[in-house]
Amino acid sequence: MKILVTGAAGFIGSGVARELANRGHNIVAADMFLDRLYSNEPKFVNWEQLSDVAHIEKVVVDLRGDLDALPDDYDVIVNAAAMPGLMTSWSEFDTYMTCNIKLVENLISHRVSEKTHFLQFSTSSVYGTTATGDEKSECLPTSPYGVTKLAAEELIGAYHRTHGLQHTILRLFSVFGPGQRPDMAYHKLIKAISAGEEFVVFGDGLQSRTNTFVDDCVGIISTIAESRATNEVFNISGSESVTLNDAIAAIEREVGKTALLKHAPARKGDQRTTSGATEKVRAAFEFAPATSFGEGIRKQIEWQLAT
Ligand SMILES: NC(=O)c1ccc[n+]([C@@H]2O[C@H](COP(=O)([O-])OP(=O)(O)OC[C@H]3O[C@@H](n4cnc5c(N)ncnc54)[C@H](O)[C@@H]3O)[C@@H](O)[C@H]2O)c1
Repeated sequence: MKILVTGAAGFIGSGVARELANRGHNIVAADMFLDRLYSNEPKFVNWEQLSDVAHIEKVVVDLRGDLDALPDDYDVIVNAAAMPGLMTSWSEFDTYMTCNIKLVENLISHRVSEKTHFLQFSTSSVYGTTATGDEKSECLPTSPYGVTKLAAEELIGAYHRTHGLQHTILRLFSVFGPGQRPDMAYHKLIKAISAGEEFVVFGDGLQSRTNTFVDDCVGIISTIAESRATNEVFNISGSESVTLNDAIAAIEREVGKTALLKHAPARKGDQRTTSGATEKVRAAFEFAPATSFGEGIRKQIEWQLAT
């Protein structure tokens, strides 16, 4: 199949582009190196590594604007491009609005044909502070990030109801492992503990996540992209619940150093408990995350300390 993967220089998109190419698909990988959330260095590395993979054409393009540089005629569009990160969304609203909503409208208007299946990366943040139910749970986002990702889902729904757009929505729950974005908690923790620097714990440290290891996440996303499952929403999540305090203790053990912690009040809008109910994706695709938190965090530490 001919597949467009957007956000292909990013943490998850780069893995999906590589995996789908390795599965024999013809990939157009698109990114613009947006540096509003974190530095472009890791994206340049990811992008460069895609050059070693057969069947990948790389295009640098801002997907909110003129798409003339981008080929067309796709079987599937995998839209990983976005401005992620919950806290920055309180101060960077224009970037969230344009990269998370306008970009989706632009892609659908200009690069979707009758045969194109649109696969959208969404987030557990659409559910709000507590994300513990299934895909039918009420969506009550508590951040502009969650609002823009929910708006994109609704926009895709409107195109489906009115113009018959075939689509799949994937709500991802915190992804970790080698390549994790430097703005994410585990990345910051590993960096701080290994360098003997201070790490700020917001709230009581009992906020918990069912993290998804990046290879498990990339594998199931690639399988769903190939299946072109129609008009469904799937939670994509690991199953092991880990509090921030648990994660600190695990990283201390692995790195062999004690964290230098500072405590501050919980941040407004932050998620308290995410525990993705994944019965639907398990039943449809036999999704069974293979990597435990312990094994995954060890791999992330090895990667971070080597880079
Ligand atoms: N990482 C997670 O734990 C997580 C959790 C839930 C949802 N998600 C979603 O998964 C997707 C990928 O997240 P990630 O962690 O890989 O983030 P990332 O920032 O590493 O990747 C996103 C990529 O999109 C690109 N991009 C942004 N705006 C663009 C534009 N206008 N034109 C072209 N490229 C653009 C960026 O340059 C970046 O390379 C996002 O949609 C995010 O909302 C991620």
